[in-house]
Amino acid sequence: MNPDFRALRRRFPVLERKTYLNSGSYCALADSVRDAINGYMEDRLLVGANWDVWVTKNEAVRAAMARVLRTQPGEIAVTASASAGINALASACDFTGPRNKVVVSDFEFPTNAQIWHAQEHRGARVVHVPRAPDGYIPLENFERLIDEETQLVAVTQVCFRNGAMLDIAGIARLAHSRGAKILLDCYQAVGSVTVDVKRLDVDYAVGGMLKYLLGTAGLGFLYVREELVPGLLPSNSGWFAQANIAAMDITANRPSPSARRFEAGTPAVVNCYAVEAGLRIILETGTDNIESRIRHLTRLCLRRLEEIGWASVTPRQEERHGAMICVPARDVAQLFGALMERDVVTSFRDDNLRASFHFYNSEDDVETFVAALAAHRSRFR
Ligand SMILES: Cc1ncc(COP(=O)(O)O)c(C=O)c1O
Repeated sequence: MNPDFRALRRRFPVLERKTYLNSGSYCALADSVRDAINGYMEDRLLVGANWDVWVTKNEAVRAAMARVLRTQPGEIAVTASASAGINALASACDFTGPRNKVVVSDFEFPTNAQIWHAQEHRGARVVHVPRAPDGYIPLENFERLIDEETQLVAVTQVCFRNGAMLDIAGIARLAHSRGAKILLDCYQAVGSVTVDVKRLDVDYAVGGMLKYLLGTAGLGFLYVREELVPGLLPSNSGWFAQANIAAMDITANRPSPSARRFEAGTPAVVNCYAVEAGLRIILETGTDNIESRIRHLTRLCLRRLEEIGWASVTPRQEERHGAMICVPARDVAQLFGALMERDVVTSFRDDNLRASFHFYNSEDDVETFVAALAAHRSRFR
């Protein structure tokens, strides 16, 4: 059954006042997420330290995240951020042998390049896959750099700078054919498109909850393919990573047999309440339905932009972009401010204005955005 997107939209109060096109930075907040955070406050005020409920909430996030990624809870670590997940994974990698190369792309969010560069003193060599003259990164560019010395290809699905989406299944095939593993940073994709980690055949995946997953900051996830877990011993660890959290054994490190071994300390409990509620909306609406809805809106946006003569830097082909459409602008900060004055909320990176769509946006939002841009034609670059 098709979701009632109009009814869903009414659950996000900010949309009554703003044309909110900033889900790629921070989602709009749903009524049920607010209620969940208030529920946490109630529990704390009336019950005190309800440890059992906290643990249940953390496990509920793990289970829901596994469903979103179409995998099993045992393959999910609930982390404090995407960066925390990448760090935990990096700490389990050995760069002392001949397979010490990490391949990243020029589309990476800083954290997924910086953390790998931070492993250079442990023997890692980091190489960057450049973009082609048209601004995209085709598979051939990855093919040139992934080789028998490559341990890991760490790559974003959707680029936060220009909205371009990479061919992750293709990159995974390439990596595996040369004996390398692939880490997917799906933060700018998950919740806006279906990210099926098995179908994409990635080994690891990271992301967080405050963008298209409708949650809050302070919580992320790391997916680790089940067969790989036993061979990875993170040195970034803690008591929540142990096989038995309650053992309180200070004589040894006994990591969990599941992906929980990539966790560390006490979970951000209030965020678990919020994220559980956000993920529930995503799962009830269905990621395939969400993806079709967003595709409809981005298609309309790209067409309308072309009609006003303000072409995007985001590739037009459906398989090459996600939920974010970026347009180049002169004085982009001023354009951003001018749109804010009209209650059109966007964001910007480099010289590009970013409009990111979610299922709660409407065709009217697209028209309002395009009309606001048309009123500032002089800033076209
Ligand atoms: C693609 C991508 N990866 C990683 C991050 C950073 O995630 P965190 O702050 O949870 O480490 C972001 C944040 O905007 C992002 O867009």
